[in-house]
Amino acid sequence: MEGESELDMEQLLQKAGVLIEALPYIQRFHGKIIVVKYGGSAMIDDKLKKEVIQDVTLLKLVGFKPIIVHGGGKEISSWVDRLGMKSEFVNGLRVTDAPTMEIAEMVLNKVNKSLVQLVEELGVRAIGISGKDGGLISVKKKLSEGQDIGFVGEVEKVNPSIIFDLLENDFLPIICPVGMDENFETYNVNADDAACAIAKAVKAEKLAFLTDIEGVYRDPNDSSSLISELTLREANELLEGGTVGGGMLPKLNNCIDAILNGVSRVHILDGRIPHCLLLEIFTNKGIGTAIIGDQDMKFYNHEEK
Ligand code: ARG
Repeated sequence: MEGESELDMEQLLQKAGVLIEALPYIQRFHGKIIVVKYGGSAMIDDKLKKEVIQDVTLLKLVGFKPIIVHGGGKEISSWVDRLGMKSEFVNGLRVTDAPTMEIAEMVLNKVNKSLVQLVEELGVRAIGISGKDGGLISVKKKLSEGQDIGFVGEVEKVNPSIIFDLLENDFLPIICPVGMDENFETYNVNADDAACAIAKAVKAEKLAFLTDIEGVYRDPNDSSSLISELTLREANELLEGGTVGGGMLPKLNNCIDAILNGVSRVHILDGRIPHCLLLEIFTNKGIGTAIIGDQDMKFYNHEEK
């Protein structure tokens, strides 16, 4: 019996330890904006989905100002196929013609409201909007190697006033990446690009990408070469070295762009790991790759070094 209660006490102290490790981060990030790009497997698996939403609502309730920017998961292509629509491809990319854009917008709005629903279930007020609302995302047509691929937009301008209004009223903004051009035509925007542009426009403290990879590897063929922390200079060197793989390249460029434009830290996380956001943000070591400015200190709380 005695041994058992000692064990209980040890476990309890461990739990207290976890919370105390989180304390400097809760202090430092109180009232700060964190943009979470939500996509990949974490959007498809129901259990992971719930855990991501739990994490984000927890962030909100301890005083952060989180913003979710999400894609359509695999739902857009699955609806395009389900409706038997013929797709045209240019340079391996599906052309977003007007009917495809119509489906994409319907699906994104549906996904958007389902996320609002999950957040509301946890007692946090959420508002789902697209980049069309309040003139949030203005775009121009994006070409692929000079070729027209339809209604795919490149972010030209972000007007964050709608986001500030929502945050001021304590709502959790949930944003899907659809924007309008100067003629008020509808365009689909890459969700990573939208998240990065929004993080820059609101001068977010943090931007976190939920991906299907552990983080950035020094050698993409060696999973033990995960890099825990990269300064801006190191990130640029890595890009110049040419070892950064296909999918990571645009992501890393987005990270660099965000840091150069006022975001303090960008995190590339494995959305397949349950509660990856909490593990990254509330621990000293984190679990993914953190990209930080050259002057930034390694840990926020020096004692724990
Ligand atoms: N929790 C701290 C933060 O949010 C440190 C995270 C460190 N992460 C890492 N992958 N090295 O900034």
